[in-house]
Amino acid sequence: GATASAVQDLSGRRVLISAGGTREPLDPVRFLGNRSSGKQGVALAQAALARGAQVTLVAAHVEVAVPCGVTTVLVSSALEMHEAMTLAAESAEVIIMTAAVADYRPRTVQLGKIKKEDVGDTLTLELVRNPDILAGLSDARRPGQLIIGFAAETETDADRLLALGRDKITRKGCDYLAVNRVGQHEGFGTERNTVTVLDRHGVIVNEASGSKMSVANCILDLIG
Ligand code: CTP
Ligand code: CA
Repeated sequence: GATASAVQDLSGRRVLISAGGTREPLDPVRFLGNRSSGKQGVALAQAALARGAQVTLVAAHVEVAVPCGVTTVLVSSALEMHEAMTLAAESAEVIIMTAAVADYRPRTVQLGKIKKEDVGDTLTLELVRNPDILAGLSDARRPGQLIIGFAAETETDADRLLALGRDKITRKGCDYLAVNRVGQHEGFGTERNTVTVLDRHGVIVNEASGSKMSVANCILDLIG
């Protein structure tokens, strides 16, 4: 469980975190999903709680237990997460988007199960873009509100990875972007994480490698 931290440097601060991976429904029994476990977001919630914050977690299919004391809002799809985050953002001082939000969703959701008999040998899905939650929250940012994004990248070259991060923070308009390399064996679902945190100018302000808890604390250090 969460142990009380000696340093209550986030005492009373209202921190909103999104975590997990969204599922985009195809029919009542099927969805398009991703490999996010929600571990990094839950570690952030636990670390923020230990440092005295009031924490709200918008959770999409998080695979790990959420510490008690965290206010949890359960969502499934990107559209549901969009609605929940937009609402919760009104009273948040710090927003951290760790969730893996589906970029696209099926244009139509079938009311009944998709049947092979009706489809035939090939099935073509039409997908439409989901709203960019982080960019929307950054657009609507209130004075004093701090917004942090996470970029999941599979790029293996360190310089190209940073270049992608710099492009991304410009597009998103958030205050900080934690750039995170993901693949079969790192990032998603694993116990450890490596992130490089960029500010709005693309300057590296922090780097962390280790447990998701230590990465969480390194990101929370930016808030104080
Ligand atoms: N994000 C979001 N809404 C979306 C897609 C992403 O809020 N529809 C957020 C994620 O939670 C993350 C950040 O944007 O904090 C970066 O997500 P990422 O998938 O790395 O970036 P994209 O802008 O979706 O670009 P791409 O997947 O094409 O690299
Ligand atoms: Ca994406």
